Amino acid sequence: MSGRPDKDPDALALIDRASALLSAAPGNPQAAFRYPVLSTVGRDGGPNGRVLVLRAADPVTWQAALHTDSRAEKVAELAANSAAMLVFYDHEASLQLRLKGTIGRNADKATLEAIWAELPASNRPNYRASLPTGSAISAAGDGIDSASAQSGYENFDVLTFSAETADILQLARTGNRRYRLDVLSGAGTWLVP
Ligand SMILES: Cc1cc2nc3c(=O)[nH]c(=O)nc-3n(C[C@H](O)[C@H](O)[C@H](O)COP(=O)(O)O)c2cc1C
Repeated sequence: MSGRPDKDPDALALIDRASALLSAAPGNPQAAFRYPVLSTVGRDGGPNGRVLVLRAADPVTWQAALHTDSRAEKVAELAANSAAMLVFYDHEASLQLRLKGTIGRNADKATLEAIWAELPASNRPNYRASLPTGSAISAAGDGIDSASAQSGYENFDVLTFSAETADILQLARTGNRRYRLDVLSGAGTWLVP
């Protein structure tokens, strides 16, 4: 049966649990939810996925921000097809969260500059590699030398994820529970796990 989770205390409790894990993750390097898998549609039409660090998350709107190099394959993929999924799993909480939605690049230059300014100095070299991520090289370690003319900001990009649905799976000895929330309408439904 589909309906408003606010009329179903079990659904509300499950949503609260998932959103609490999500909101705590960006600030906690030990949090499992800090390392989601981002899935995209490859430029060849096939699937692609990789782990990213969750940099910011809004537990009410289910929006999230991730940082990447603008030269990365995922950026080209998202320019061609903005469909994206973030998959999280917290083993201690026995909870999987699948956020399905779209990713837009952060077009707002002022916001991008502000985020770059706040970035720990240790993160900046990640964006200074002379060759783009995924370039073929003749030996391990080639191409990661810093291009001295670059600050890294030239290649820094923020991916802004907006969820359409949140699919929450709670594993439990007493019985697994799965609920899908339509983020935009606020309605949801229990699913066979
Ligand atoms: C724990 C972990 C954290 C990572 N964090 C990021 C990240 O925040 N941003 C990023 O672009 N890549 C990150 N990566 C590397 C990606 O998984 C991936 O290898 C890289 O971004 C290239 O992906 P692409 O060729 O699909 O664009 C991380 C990898 C691991 C294992």
